[in-house]
Amino acid sequence: MTKSCLSCLVLKSFLSSPLQMIIGDIGDCAITKDPRTGEWFLLQTIPGFRFRSLRNQQNHTTSLQYFRNIVDNIRFGRPQQPSEVLGRYFQPNYKNLLNLIPFQEITYIDPSPIGRGDKGVVHRAVWSCPRKIGMWSAETIDVALKSLKVPGTQDLEHFMRELDASFAAFQSKAIGCIELLGILMTPPREAHSISNRPISVLQTETLFLVLEFATEGSIIGYLNRTLTGQQSDWPVIIRFISNLANGLERVHDQGIIHRDIHPGNVLVTSRKDRGMPNRELPREPIALISDLGEGQLINNQSLGRACYGDPRYWAPEIRNSNTYSKASDVYAMGRLVADIVAVNWQIASNNGVVSKLIPQVLLEMIVNCQNPFPERRPSISEICQTLEDVRMSEKHNDLVLIPIDPEVLQSFISQSGNEPSGSSSSEIPT
Ligand SMILES: *[C@@H]1O[C@H](CO)[C@@H](O)[C@H](O)[C@H]1NC(C)=O
Ligand SMILES: *[C@@H]1O[C@H](CO)[C@@H](O)[C@H](O)[C@H]1NC(C)=O
Ligand SMILES: *[C@@H]1O[C@H](CO)[C@@H](O)[C@H](O)[C@H]1NC(C)=O
Repeated sequence: MTKSCLSCLVLKSFLSSPLQMIIGDIGDCAITKDPRTGEWFLLQTIPGFRFRSLRNQQNHTTSLQYFRNIVDNIRFGRPQQPSEVLGRYFQPNYKNLLNLIPFQEITYIDPSPIGRGDKGVVHRAVWSCPRKIGMWSAETIDVALKSLKVPGTQDLEHFMRELDASFAAFQSKAIGCIELLGILMTPPREAHSISNRPISVLQTETLFLVLEFATEGSIIGYLNRTLTGQQSDWPVIIRFISNLANGLERVHDQGIIHRDIHPGNVLVTSRKDRGMPNRELPREPIALISDLGEGQLINNQSLGRACYGDPRYWAPEIRNSNTYSKASDVYAMGRLVADIVAVNWQIASNNGVVSKLIPQVLLEMIVNCQNPFPERRPSISEICQTLEDVRMSEKHNDLVLIPIDPEVLQSFISQSGNEPSGSSSSEIPT
């Protein structure tokens, strides 16, 4: 160990926090005393120092990943780093946590897009991921490549917004969000002819987000395929809504407003345990939030004088004054819950069931989330807590179901889409 890889902290600072916490599990620390002043110093290696500060800011998993990536980059001799690709957009917190996936590891790209928006195209692809530290074996992973149309400045800014928000959301290992696996840069045009990848996909796009591929697609389509229209659907529905609420809670906890919650941005997947010996066993499908492209860190005031996303999910304050907040995300979520309930009713009525029932907890959620006054909407943490309580305390088959006239529910939804008026417009019918 050379002198230059040591950093010093004055002993005072380590006496004020538990020594155990600092020394932790790397065993790279020592203490020393300055014989002249009698002052004590704590010596730590720079990687150790970085590890501990990352662990304090994020958590243990993230800080471990940081070091694994350093080792993997050396092992695989990764020639290019994200800092070179992103240039001035590269942020210090990406260092060794954001993966630049080498183009040759993308072994297949489906030429027909699975999604196309005004801001970019999404292609399904296969990533042949070599065996990394902590993985049981090399793996082929289905991924979604999300591109920009043209690598112009504005597009790059949009790309960076999405990258930034996805990165921030995923740094907390946001179990409720689509996983950001890395970024991909296509090689110069002349290299395409020697690859077996469809050239049309690569002609205009150079930079991609590499995201987890959601096996079951959007939530409404999935529920429409799998629900039966019977009462046994409700626990399933509540579980998916709970996933969604947990995902949004993570996003909000990271200081991000999603701004574009709608059914197309909530995907369902049967995740596998990547890199694990038993990975072939898919887990229970879960709902995940995707498309953080409009998501923004709340402290960035310079953005956002425009309406984003699907108007049906806009809270009144967005229509009136373009004011996005965590509460406007909660509004959109309430609206989405109503859509999900409507799918169950549709299926039930296809099966000849006339009466409309709704679990009380969902009815309250729909109404409260769509309160015209943003400050009266519940916070996402309150919603998560309520759903958790319902899932814990009730045997799922004795949820309190309330019969409701769909038109009554509809009137609550459309009423709250108008300007706030009066104060008692959203009492819950009992
Ligand atoms: C870090 O976060 C992930 C996801 O929330 C969690 O599974 C893991 O247990 C956390 N690790 C620690 C040490 O808290
Ligand atoms: C559900 O599926 C049926 C049959 O495929 C279709 O007619 C209906 O529009 C779908 N509903 C929704 C809400 O997607
Ligand atoms: C806010 O957004 C602008 C425009 O995208 C960007 O240049 C700036 O760095 C952002 N500031 C923060 C604090 O994120």
